[in-house]
Amino acid sequence: MKLLVTGGAGFIGSNFIRYILEKYPDYRVVNLDLLTYAGNLENLKDVENNPNYKFARGNFAAESHVDRSILDSAAFIHTNVVGTHNLLEVAKANGLKRFHHVSTDEVYGHLGPNDTPFNEKTPYAPRSPYSASKAAADHLVMAYHHTYGLPVTISNCSNNYGPFQFPEKLHGLFITNLLEGKKVPVYGDGMQVRDWLYVRDHCEAINLVIHKGKIGETYCVGGNCEKPNIEITKKILELLEKGQDLIEYVKDRPGHDRRYAMDYAKIKKELGWQPRTSFDEGMKKTVEWYKANEDWWREIKSGEYLKYYEKQYGER
Ligand code: DAU
Repeated sequence: MKLLVTGGAGFIGSNFIRYILEKYPDYRVVNLDLLTYAGNLENLKDVENNPNYKFARGNFAAESHVDRSILDSAAFIHTNVVGTHNLLEVAKANGLKRFHHVSTDEVYGHLGPNDTPFNEKTPYAPRSPYSASKAAADHLVMAYHHTYGLPVTISNCSNNYGPFQFPEKLHGLFITNLLEGKKVPVYGDGMQVRDWLYVRDHCEAINLVIHKGKIGETYCVGGNCEKPNIEITKKILELLEKGQDLIEYVKDRPGHDRRYAMDYAKIKKELGWQPRTSFDEGMKKTVEWYKANEDWWREIKSGEYLKYYEKQYGER
């Protein structure tokens, strides 16, 4: 099997490539990544000499950070919508055997406290430029299936966390801020709920869909782990043995989605997938990884990332 992973130098992409190379020693993987701010070949240092792995530079990944899409949405339309369209065209022209599109639960909008979790039948209702661009991409993927018979599958996943997550997301930012002796900026009241999934469990879900998922189908992937941001924050503080005085409540994200939750009954029933890593285990592993990989995140935080945020938000 030959796999082309777009955005393989990012957080989920690099975890996925490592997972595939470990699990299938005879598969060949090409990583296509533009190496923008969040793509980092350091994420794959341990596999760079693997004869089954190759890197090529090009732009077909996804822009993923909601705050960035609020500040400047053009890159999101270009990469997530136009980029996906380009890939679909290339796949169609070359008779690709399978085109799997990795998407997000955010395409379904957000939930109230008593709403039932999203599932594959939930109508699309994206609310940020980021989620709108992902929704557009999902629609294009399905349109290429219906119109041209392209053999597609889609997975829509909830929030991921784990090793190699860029330190602009909740976990990466908060853990590294605390390791640097800084405070952690909790948006609004900190009661927004996300359904957290350890990244390796997501890789396992993608792998199952690629091999066994039914063509033309969407699979919802979730962590069965709904937690408000403040609980994540307190767990990180506890694991790092820091006090709650380091919590700083800051201005809320505009249009901040209140709650996401995924019903993963379909992928469980059809493909036998469910999350394996408990919240406690995943959080412990994640914090340990950032503690053991200071060089990785310190380099990122001292570079482009800081310049970008300082310009927009002031010092963090
Ligand atoms: O739901 C899946 C999505 O999860 C993915 O599609 C996105 O690519 C990914 O970025 C993530 O989106 P979120 O906006 O949920 O993730 P983020 O890590 O930015 O924020 C998680 C929650 O933490 C959210 O409610 C905002 C809050 N937050 C985040 C940051 C960076 C804070 O309170 N303070 C912060 O500094």
